[in-house]
Amino acid sequence: MKKYASLKSIASYVPSRCVKNSDFEEILDTSDEWIRKRTGIQTRYFASDDENSSDLGARAAKLALERSGLDVQDIDLVIVATLSPDYLGMPSSACLLSAKLGIRNKPAFDISAACSGFIYLLSLAKSFIESGAYENILIVGAEKVSSVLDFKDRSTCVLFGDGAGAAVIGTTSEKNKSILDVHISSDGTYYDYLLTPRSLKESKFLQEKFAPQYLQMKGNETFKLAVKTLTSDVKEIMKKNNIFSKDIDFFIPHQANLRIISAVGEQLKFSSEQVVVTVEKYGNTSAASIPMAMNDIYENGRLNGGDLMLLDAFGGGLTWGSALLYFGA
Ligand code: ACO
Repeated sequence: MKKYASLKSIASYVPSRCVKNSDFEEILDTSDEWIRKRTGIQTRYFASDDENSSDLGARAAKLALERSGLDVQDIDLVIVATLSPDYLGMPSSACLLSAKLGIRNKPAFDISAACSGFIYLLSLAKSFIESGAYENILIVGAEKVSSVLDFKDRSTCVLFGDGAGAAVIGTTSEKNKSILDVHISSDGTYYDYLLTPRSLKESKFLQEKFAPQYLQMKGNETFKLAVKTLTSDVKEIMKKNNIFSKDIDFFIPHQANLRIISAVGEQLKFSSEQVVVTVEKYGNTSAASIPMAMNDIYENGRLNGGDLMLLDAFGGGLTWGSALLYFGA
Protein backbone atom coordinates (compact mmCIF):
# COMPACT_ATOMS: atom_id res chain seq x y z
CA MET A 1 0.00 0.00 0.00
CA LYS A 2 1.28 3.48 -0.89
CA LYS A 3 2.44 5.58 2.04
CA TYR A 4 1.77 9.30 1.91
CA ALA A 5 3.23 12.02 4.13
CA SER A 6 0.66 13.57 6.44
CA LEU A 7 0.57 16.57 8.78
CA LYS A 8 -0.54 14.90 12.01
CA SER A 9 -0.45 17.77 14.49
CA ILE A 10 0.15 21.49 14.78
CA ALA A 11 1.14 23.72 17.71
CA SER A 12 2.70 27.08 18.38
CA TYR A 13 4.38 29.12 21.07
CA VAL A 14 3.98 32.86 21.50
CA PRO A 15 6.43 34.64 23.83
CA SER A 16 4.87 36.62 26.65
CA ARG A 17 5.98 40.21 25.97
CA CYS A 18 3.30 41.95 23.90
CA VAL A 19 4.47 45.11 22.11
CA LYS A 20 1.80 47.49 20.82
CA ASN A 21 2.25 49.86 17.89
CA SER A 22 1.98 52.77 20.29
CA ASP A 23 5.09 51.47 22.14
CA PHE A 24 7.12 52.36 19.02
CA GLU A 25 5.79 55.92 19.07
CA GLU A 26 8.02 56.53 22.09
CA ILE A 27 11.27 55.56 20.32
CA LEU A 28 10.59 56.29 16.63
CA ASP A 29 8.95 58.78 14.28
CA THR A 30 5.98 56.49 13.61
CA SER A 31 2.35 56.09 14.60
CA ASP A 32 -0.17 53.38 15.41
CA GLU A 33 -2.25 54.70 12.51
CA TRP A 34 0.60 54.36 9.93
CA ILE A 35 1.47 50.83 11.02
CA ARG A 36 -2.17 49.64 11.04
CA LYS A 37 -3.01 51.25 7.71
CA ARG A 38 0.09 50.10 5.80
CA THR A 39 0.48 46.63 7.33
CA GLY A 40 -2.59 45.62 9.37
CA ILE A 41 -0.32 44.92 12.37
CA GLN A 42 -1.58 45.96 15.83
CA THR A 43 0.64 43.95 18.19
CA ARG A 44 3.60 41.57 18.08
CA TYR A 45 5.35 39.52 20.78
CA PHE A 46 9.06 39.64 21.61
CA ALA A 47 11.07 36.92 23.35
CA SER A 48 12.96 37.75 26.55
CA ASP A 49 16.76 38.17 26.59
CA ASP A 50 17.29 34.62 27.82
CA GLU A 51 14.91 33.00 25.29
CA ASN A 52 16.35 31.96 21.94
CA SER A 53 14.82 30.46 18.81
CA SER A 54 15.44 26.91 20.03
CA ASP A 55 13.60 27.70 23.31
CA LEU A 56 10.58 29.05 21.44
CA GLY A 57 10.73 26.14 19.01
CA ALA A 58 11.04 23.55 21.80
CA ARG A 59 7.87 24.88 23.48
CA ALA A 60 5.89 24.57 20.24
CA ALA A 61 7.45 21.20 19.37
CA LYS A 62 6.63 19.68 22.76
CA LEU A 63 2.96 20.53 22.29
CA ALA A 64 2.95 19.31 18.67
CA LEU A 65 4.38 15.98 19.88
CA GLU A 66 1.75 15.68 22.61
CA ARG A 67 -1.00 16.42 20.09
CA SER A 68 0.35 13.80 17.66
CA GLY A 69 0.17 11.11 20.34
CA LEU A 70 3.80 10.19 19.60
CA ASP A 71 6.70 9.94 21.96
CA VAL A 72 10.09 11.63 21.56
CA GLN A 73 11.59 8.21 20.73
CA ASP A 74 9.30 7.98 17.68
CA ILE A 75 10.84 11.04 16.01
CA ASP A 76 13.35 10.09 13.30
CA LEU A 77 14.45 13.55 12.18
CA VAL A 78 14.21 17.16 13.38
CA ILE A 79 14.41 20.11 10.98
CA VAL A 80 14.18 23.76 12.00
CA ALA A 81 13.65 26.70 9.64
CA THR A 82 14.92 30.01 10.99
CA LEU A 83 16.55 33.27 9.96
CA SER A 84 17.39 34.00 13.60
CA PRO A 85 19.19 30.89 14.92
CA ASP A 86 20.60 30.73 18.46
CA TYR A 87 24.12 30.70 16.98
CA LEU A 88 25.24 31.94 13.58
CA GLY A 89 26.71 28.87 11.91
CA MET A 90 26.80 26.21 14.63
CA PRO A 91 25.41 24.46 16.56
CA SER A 92 22.11 24.39 14.70
CA SER A 93 18.93 25.39 16.50
CA ALA A 94 17.62 21.93 15.52
CA CYS A 95 20.37 20.23 17.59
CA LEU A 96 19.70 22.54 20.56
CA LEU A 97 15.94 22.01 20.30
CA SER A 98 16.38 18.22 20.07
CA ALA A 99 18.47 18.25 23.26
CA LYS A 100 15.81 20.32 25.04
CA LEU A 101 13.15 17.75 24.06
CA GLY A 102 15.32 14.75 24.96
CA ILE A 103 15.71 13.59 21.34
CA ARG A 104 19.18 12.07 20.96
CA ASN A 105 21.07 10.10 18.32
CA LYS A 106 18.76 11.30 15.54
CA PRO A 107 19.60 13.63 12.64
CA ALA A 108 18.83 17.32 13.17
CA PHE A 109 19.60 20.35 11.02
CA ASP A 110 18.49 23.89 10.19
CA ILE A 111 17.41 25.30 6.86
CA SER A 112 17.55 28.89 5.67
CA ALA A 113 14.64 29.97 3.49
CA ALA A 114 13.46 33.02 5.51
CA CYS A 115 9.67 33.46 5.48
CA SER A 116 9.22 30.53 3.08
CA GLY A 117 10.85 28.22 5.64
CA PHE A 118 7.75 26.24 6.61
CA ILE A 119 6.91 25.42 2.98
CA TYR A 120 10.50 24.26 2.42
CA LEU A 121 10.19 22.10 5.58
CA LEU A 122 7.03 20.47 4.24
CA SER A 123 8.74 19.73 0.95
CA LEU A 124 11.68 18.06 2.70
CA ALA A 125 9.50 16.09 5.11
CA LYS A 126 7.24 14.86 2.31
CA SER A 127 10.24 13.67 0.26
CA PHE A 128 11.95 11.96 3.21
CA ILE A 129 8.76 10.15 4.21
CA GLU A 130 7.57 9.15 0.75
CA SER A 131 11.05 7.86 -0.18
CA GLY A 132 10.81 5.54 2.85
CA ALA A 133 13.79 7.14 4.63
CA TYR A 134 11.86 8.16 7.78
CA GLU A 135 8.48 7.59 9.42
CA ASN A 136 8.00 10.60 11.71
CA ILE A 137 9.58 14.02 11.29
CA LEU A 138 9.36 17.04 13.56
CA ILE A 139 9.39 20.30 11.60
CA VAL A 140 9.67 23.64 13.35
CA GLY A 141 9.64 27.28 12.25
CA ALA A 142 11.24 29.20 15.14
CA GLU A 143 12.16 32.86 15.10
CA LYS A 144 13.59 35.47 17.40
CA VAL A 145 13.51 38.10 14.66
CA SER A 146 13.80 40.82 17.31
CA SER A 147 17.46 39.76 17.72
CA VAL A 148 18.31 41.03 14.22
CA LEU A 149 16.10 44.12 14.10
CA ASP A 150 17.43 47.67 13.99
CA PHE A 151 15.21 49.52 16.44
CA LYS A 152 16.25 52.81 14.85
CA ASP A 153 14.84 51.76 11.46
CA ARG A 154 11.09 52.42 11.44
CA SER A 155 10.66 50.83 8.01
CA THR A 156 11.54 47.34 9.32
CA CYS A 157 11.44 47.03 13.12
CA VAL A 158 7.68 47.61 13.42
CA LEU A 159 6.91 44.76 11.02
CA PHE A 160 8.29 41.68 12.77
CA GLY A 161 7.56 39.52 15.81
CA ASP A 162 8.98 36.44 17.54
CA GLY A 163 7.33 33.04 17.87
CA ALA A 164 7.40 29.40 16.83
CA GLY A 165 5.19 26.87 15.11
CA ALA A 166 5.74 23.12 14.95
CA ALA A 167 4.19 20.14 13.22
CA VAL A 168 4.66 16.38 13.25
CA ILE A 169 4.73 14.86 9.79
CA GLY A 170 3.95 11.15 9.77
CA THR A 171 2.51 8.63 7.32
CA THR A 172 -0.96 7.74 6.09
CA SER A 173 -2.43 5.41 3.52
CA GLU A 174 -5.35 7.79 2.93
CA LYS A 175 -4.82 10.37 0.21
CA ASN A 176 -7.45 12.67 1.73
CA LYS A 177 -5.29 12.95 4.89
CA SER A 178 -2.03 13.55 3.02
CA ILE A 179 0.25 16.36 1.88
CA LEU A 180 -0.87 16.46 -1.75
CA ASP A 181 1.78 18.68 -3.30
CA VAL A 182 4.49 21.18 -2.35
CA HIS A 183 6.17 23.62 -4.69
CA ILE A 184 9.29 25.59 -3.70
CA SER A 185 11.47 28.00 -5.65
CA SER A 186 13.98 30.84 -5.38
CA ASP A 187 15.75 33.59 -7.30
CA GLY A 188 19.04 34.67 -5.76
CA THR A 189 19.43 37.64 -8.10
CA TYR A 190 17.10 39.45 -5.67
CA TYR A 191 19.33 38.57 -2.69
CA ASP A 192 19.59 42.19 -1.55
CA TYR A 193 15.81 42.70 -1.12
CA LEU A 194 16.08 41.28 2.41
CA LEU A 195 19.35 40.98 4.31
CA THR A 196 20.40 40.05 7.85
CA PRO A 197 23.82 40.55 9.53
CA ARG A 198 26.76 38.65 8.16
CA SER A 199 28.68 36.44 10.58
CA LEU A 200 31.89 36.72 8.60
CA LYS A 201 34.12 39.76 8.26
CA GLU A 202 32.53 42.18 5.81
CA SER A 203 34.21 42.83 2.52
CA LYS A 204 34.85 46.52 2.02
CA PHE A 205 32.70 46.48 -1.11
CA LEU A 206 29.69 45.06 0.71
CA GLN A 207 30.19 47.36 3.68
CA GLU A 208 30.02 50.38 1.43
CA LYS A 209 27.13 49.03 -0.58
CA PHE A 210 24.81 47.60 2.06
CA ALA A 211 26.36 47.95 5.55
CA PRO A 212 24.18 45.02 6.64
CA GLN A 213 24.41 45.14 10.43
CA TYR A 214 20.70 44.47 10.92
CA LEU A 215 17.78 43.20 8.92
CA GLN A 216 17.22 45.45 5.93
CA MET A 217 14.43 45.30 3.40
CA LYS A 218 13.50 46.93 0.11
CA GLY A 219 9.88 46.98 1.26
CA ASN A 220 8.17 48.42 -1.79
CA GLU A 221 9.96 46.23 -4.35
CA THR A 222 9.40 43.16 -2.13
CA PHE A 223 5.71 44.00 -1.83
CA LYS A 224 5.14 44.10 -5.60
CA LEU A 225 7.11 40.93 -6.29
CA ALA A 226 5.36 39.15 -3.39
CA VAL A 227 1.86 39.80 -4.78
CA LYS A 228 2.88 38.74 -8.29
CA THR A 229 4.81 35.60 -7.28
CA LEU A 230 2.38 34.40 -4.62
CA THR A 231 -0.59 34.68 -6.96
CA SER A 232 1.07 32.89 -9.88
CA ASP A 233 2.54 30.17 -7.66
CA VAL A 234 -0.84 29.36 -6.12
CA LYS A 235 -2.57 29.33 -9.50
CA GLU A 236 0.03 26.85 -10.74
CA ILE A 237 -0.24 24.39 -7.83
CA MET A 238 -4.07 24.47 -7.95
CA LYS A 239 -4.11 23.90 -11.72
CA LYS A 240 -1.58 21.06 -11.48
CA ASN A 241 -3.75 19.29 -8.87
CA ASN A 242 -7.08 20.16 -10.50
CA ILE A 243 -8.22 22.02 -7.38
CA PHE A 244 -10.39 25.16 -7.49
CA SER A 245 -10.64 28.01 -4.96
CA LYS A 246 -14.03 26.71 -3.79
CA ASP A 247 -12.44 23.35 -2.85
CA ILE A 248 -10.07 24.95 -0.34
CA ASP A 249 -11.19 25.12 3.30
CA PHE A 250 -8.37 27.42 4.42
CA PHE A 251 -5.94 29.60 2.49
CA ILE A 252 -3.05 30.30 4.89
CA PRO A 253 -0.61 32.79 3.37
CA HIS A 254 2.60 34.03 4.98
CA GLN A 255 1.61 36.81 7.37
CA ALA A 256 3.76 39.78 6.30
CA ASN A 257 1.26 42.46 5.42
CA LEU A 258 -2.55 42.57 5.37
CA ARG A 259 -2.48 44.44 2.04
CA ILE A 260 -0.46 41.62 0.40
CA ILE A 261 -2.79 38.98 1.89
CA SER A 262 -5.91 40.86 0.72
CA ALA A 263 -4.53 41.48 -2.79
CA VAL A 264 -3.56 37.83 -3.27
CA GLY A 265 -6.80 36.55 -1.68
CA GLU A 266 -8.92 38.75 -3.97
CA GLN A 267 -7.03 37.79 -7.12
CA LEU A 268 -7.53 34.13 -6.26
CA LYS A 269 -11.21 34.69 -5.43
CA PHE A 270 -11.09 33.39 -1.87
CA SER A 271 -13.81 34.51 0.55
CA SER A 272 -12.81 36.17 3.83
CA GLU A 273 -13.86 32.96 5.67
CA GLN A 274 -11.30 30.99 3.66
CA VAL A 275 -8.38 33.39 4.21
CA VAL A 276 -6.59 33.00 7.57
CA VAL A 277 -5.23 36.29 8.96
CA THR A 278 -3.16 36.60 12.15
CA VAL A 279 -0.75 39.37 11.12
CA GLU A 280 -2.69 41.89 13.25
CA LYS A 281 -1.75 39.93 16.41
CA TYR A 282 1.72 38.55 15.74
CA GLY A 283 3.27 40.72 13.01
CA ASN A 284 5.59 38.95 10.60
CA THR A 285 7.16 35.98 12.41
CA SER A 286 8.96 34.75 9.27
CA ALA A 287 9.28 30.92 9.16
CA ALA A 288 6.91 30.63 12.14
CA SER A 289 4.10 32.65 10.60
CA ILE A 290 2.25 29.91 8.67
CA PRO A 291 2.32 27.24 11.42
CA MET A 292 1.31 29.88 14.01
CA ALA A 293 -1.65 30.87 11.83
CA MET A 294 -2.56 27.21 11.28
CA ASN A 295 -2.43 26.61 15.02
CA ASP A 296 -4.76 29.57 15.62
CA ILE A 297 -7.54 28.01 13.53
CA TYR A 298 -6.84 24.64 15.14
CA GLU A 299 -7.14 26.05 18.68
CA ASN A 300 -10.27 28.03 17.69
CA GLY A 301 -11.86 24.73 16.69
CA ARG A 302 -12.12 25.73 13.01
CA LEU A 303 -9.51 23.30 11.60
CA ASN A 304 -10.60 19.66 11.57
CA GLY A 305 -9.08 16.43 10.27
CA GLY A 306 -9.60 16.15 6.50
CA ASP A 307 -9.81 19.93 5.88
CA LEU A 308 -7.95 21.04 2.75
CA MET A 309 -5.40 23.83 3.24
CA LEU A 310 -3.47 25.90 0.74
CA LEU A 311 -0.28 27.52 2.07
CA ASP A 312 1.64 30.26 0.30
CA ALA A 313 4.85 32.04 1.31
CA PHE A 314 7.44 34.50 0.10
CA GLY A 315 10.64 35.69 1.76
CA GLY A 316 14.31 36.60 1.75
CA GLY A 317 16.58 34.84 -0.70
CA LEU A 318 14.33 35.51 -2.50
CA THR A 319 12.43 32.30 -1.86
CA TRP A 320 8.81 31.34 -2.33
CA GLY A 321 6.54 28.32 -2.37
CA SER A 322 3.09 26.86 -1.89
CA ALA A 323 1.64 23.67 -0.46
CA LEU A 324 -1.64 21.86 -0.84
CA LEU A 325 -2.42 19.53 2.04
CA TYR A 326 -5.16 17.94 4.08
CA PHE A 327 -5.03 18.21 7.86
CA GLY A 328 -4.10 14.65 8.77
CA ALA A 329 -5.16 14.64 12.45
N1 ACO B 1 6.08 54.83 10.32
C1 ACO B 1 5.87 55.95 9.62
N2 ACO B 1 6.31 56.12 8.36
C2 ACO B 1 7.01 55.11 7.80
C3 ACO B 1 7.29 53.92 8.50
C4 ACO B 1 6.79 53.80 9.82
N3 ACO B 1 6.97 52.70 10.57
N4 ACO B 1 7.99 53.10 7.69
C5 ACO B 1 8.17 53.76 6.53
N5 ACO B 1 7.59 54.98 6.60
C6 ACO B 1 7.53 56.01 5.57
C7 ACO B 1 8.66 55.92 4.58
O1 ACO B 1 9.81 56.55 5.09
C8 ACO B 1 8.07 56.64 3.40
O2 ACO B 1 8.18 58.03 3.62
P1 ACO B 1 8.57 59.04 2.38
O3 ACO B 1 7.44 58.86 1.41
O4 ACO B 1 8.65 60.33 3.07
O5 ACO B 1 9.87 58.50 1.87
C9 ACO B 1 6.58 56.27 3.45
O6 ACO B 1 6.35 55.84 4.80
C10 ACO B 1 6.16 55.21 2.48
O7 ACO B 1 7.11 54.13 2.55
P2 ACO B 1 6.97 52.85 1.67
O8 ACO B 1 8.13 51.94 1.94
O9 ACO B 1 6.70 53.24 0.24
O10 ACO B 1 5.63 52.23 2.29
P3 ACO B 1 4.82 50.99 1.80
O11 ACO B 1 3.43 51.37 1.60
O12 ACO B 1 5.53 50.25 0.69
O13 ACO B 1 4.83 50.05 3.09
C11 ACO B 1 5.97 48.04 3.88
C12 ACO B 1 6.08 49.55 3.59
C13 ACO B 1 4.95 47.86 4.98
C14 ACO B 1 7.31 47.54 4.33
C15 ACO B 1 5.51 47.28 2.61
O14 ACO B 1 6.27 47.68 1.52
C16 ACO B 1 5.62 45.77 2.74
O15 ACO B 1 4.89 45.14 3.47
N6 ACO B 1 6.50 45.14 1.96
C17 ACO B 1 6.60 43.69 1.84
C18 ACO B 1 7.16 43.00 3.04
C19 ACO B 1 7.31 41.51 2.76
O16 ACO B 1 6.44 40.86 2.24
N7 ACO B 1 8.47 40.94 3.05
C20 ACO B 1 8.72 39.55 2.67
C21 ACO B 1 8.72 38.64 3.78
S1 ACO B 1 9.78 39.12 5.07
C22 ACO B 1 11.05 37.94 5.20
O17 ACO B 1 11.29 37.12 4.37
C23 ACO B 1 11.90 38.05 6.40
